[in-house]
Amino acid sequence: MPHSSSPNNVARRLRRKVQRISAIGAWRDYASNQRSLGHTVGLVPTMGALHAGHLSLFREAKSRGDIVLATIFVNPRQFNDVKDLTAYPRTPELDHTSAEAHGVDCLVEPTLEEMWPAYPNPTATTVSVRGVSDTLEGAGRPGHFDGVASVVAKLFAVTGSCRAYFGEKDFQQIAVIRQMVRDLALDVEVVSCPIVRDEDGLALSSRNVLLSLDARKKAVALSRSLLAARAESAPASELRARMREVLEGSGVEVAYADVVDPVTLVPVGDDETGERRALIAGLVDGVRLIDNAPVIVEARRG
Ligand code: PAF
Repeated sequence: MPHSSSPNNVARRLRRKVQRISAIGAWRDYASNQRSLGHTVGLVPTMGALHAGHLSLFREAKSRGDIVLATIFVNPRQFNDVKDLTAYPRTPELDHTSAEAHGVDCLVEPTLEEMWPAYPNPTATTVSVRGVSDTLEGAGRPGHFDGVASVVAKLFAVTGSCRAYFGEKDFQQIAVIRQMVRDLALDVEVVSCPIVRDEDGLALSSRNVLLSLDARKKAVALSRSLLAARAESAPASELRARMREVLEGSGVEVAYADVVDPVTLVPVGDDETGERRALIAGLVDGVRLIDNAPVIVEARRG
């Protein structure tokens, strides 16, 4: 009794235990009960291995007053390479602690059997968002965005009306999800949140733990190449060349370094002017990393 009002005990009492759910029925009921109590549900879909980027999504959802419902599901259908799926980092214990410490109200960890009962066989229904899915990441990783759109459609279907938070590091993923929400008139407000970076500029990603010390140093070239493209406005083809030069000069195997329209993701021509998006991807000692930033393009003169 005498120590019941110590700061630690007060903090412990104030910290509500995160509710943990795995069954789809219980997840659907939780979200629907919250809405009937007048709350907005803030869905934060993740594949676990939570880092400061994910925590910023929880914070954003909290700051808007949402009941934060985070999901952790390493979705096999979005991995086009089985080695990549096997190597994907999994840190369940740390994830539970982080979710609880950062205000997640409900943590949903659905089972593979419930999400994809036929796996490894394909499900009869696939959500495929043509156009925005076909370029950049989609071109290099066939089927990736069908896997993303299919799982996110299912997360939205079970959660119901909600705000859904995504990090801008996966810029193309957000474009695909927004298009899907528009096309299917889903009752979901997509909220995109800024990229969180390490002090040296590297965009946070669950995959960063796969980098060796040497690769980690090389990986900084991704954000440096974007800085080079942002340094001065120029025609899109010059910005592409600047980014490639920085990446290749640092030993990054470039998958793409493009400047595109931020909504359609169509490559920008040299006759265009204004704010567009630079998107890059590269292999750093075998680990695929992506990054992006807004850039200003200037039409070529003469
Ligand atoms: O960005 C991710 O972690 C995944 O692509 C997502 C949105 C959770 C779907 O599996």
